[in-house]
Amino acid sequence: MIKGLEIYISNPFLLALLHAQFVKIIGIEFLIIDEFITLGMSRKISFRNDYSEGAHPAILQLLMDTNMQQEPGYGTDHISELAKQKIKSYLQNDQADIYFISGGTQANLLVISHLLKPYESVIAADTGHIAVHETGAIENTGHKVNVVPNALGKLTVAAVESILNTHQDHHMVKPAMVYISQSTEIGSIYSKKELQDLYAYCQEKNLKLFIDGARLGVSLTAYKNDLSLADLSKLCDVFYIGATKNGGLLGEAIVFNKPDLAIDFPDALKQKGALLAKGRLIGAQFLALFTDEIFFQLAKRANQLAMRIADALIQKGYEFACPPETNQLFPVLPNPVIEDLQTHFDFFVWEKLEGNKAVCRIVTSWATTDEAVEEFLKELSKN
Ligand SMILES: Cc1ncc(COP(=O)(O)O)c(C=O)c1O
Repeated sequence: MIKGLEIYISNPFLLALLHAQFVKIIGIEFLIIDEFITLGMSRKISFRNDYSEGAHPAILQLLMDTNMQQEPGYGTDHISELAKQKIKSYLQNDQADIYFISGGTQANLLVISHLLKPYESVIAADTGHIAVHETGAIENTGHKVNVVPNALGKLTVAAVESILNTHQDHHMVKPAMVYISQSTEIGSIYSKKELQDLYAYCQEKNLKLFIDGARLGVSLTAYKNDLSLADLSKLCDVFYIGATKNGGLLGEAIVFNKPDLAIDFPDALKQKGALLAKGRLIGAQFLALFTDEIFFQLAKRANQLAMRIADALIQKGYEFACPPETNQLFPVLPNPVIEDLQTHFDFFVWEKLEGNKAVCRIVTSWATTDEAVEEFLKELSKN
């Protein structure tokens, strides 16, 4: 139970007055106040996103514990330093240069614009977040995104090669970076072999490899995963570790594997409004997440719950647009089933298909309850 709240509202009578209830996740109790729901929020159980809830209590506790501590600003505080040490212990790379910033789009545009010369471009899958869901943020920094067809959300060496083959003279942008996401926007993950092949090719062709890790946690704890943070510190030039979608209030940790690449990065952060005076707040979140393996536990739980839903969907004979690997599922469901499920649950209809069916996106999070999954499975079994 979150300390502080306990004193005032563990009394059942007061809970009833508040229209509140506690739900238990990984042994920790959370307070849900129904009154918030009547203020316009949906009553349906949400499988829409992995950032629908606030933050894991260990984070809130650490923020409380360090609240009155006086610290220097702009990421030079002791809390952020401790968080970086914790992350480095997983990276096994003392050279790594780590920066805490607030969001994924910001991480992408900061890294890409910092590492590319004005006439250089970045290669991405056509499903890549920078290509479709960032409102032209990368193009707005002056860099073209060279888009190639995805293979289950992933980039292949052949696809990267096709861009290099067609960008050979000075009248075209010069591809200088490859952008991939781990896990991808459709929930798939790169294997170690796939990443090794891609990075070897990038090194041969003098392309920087950048991994968007907004959902890195679920990739590292996926049942198929064979990569570790230490591997990632060797198999790309720069990547980031997302907290926003894995139990943090907000925040991403950008990791430059080679410190040369990060020269003047704090200047770039400041110029783009990303150097937070109270950088300690994001440092504290990563310190909490990387203490006692919480980061990994939360991601693992999201994956396990997703696999329970995936198994039930498979048993019902439904197909998937992308095989289930992490906490984002993309089942193809008949429209009547979607309509029924949507009366109880909130999730995206991703793509309408011919034949009265559609691809749906069902996402579990670190905070999804067992009860929510049970209810979903119960409703599914009726169809
Ligand atoms: C793979 C990926 N990268 C980046 C982002 C952007 O994150 P933000 O919304 O924090 O800018 C998202 C958001 O969904 C994402 O899925």
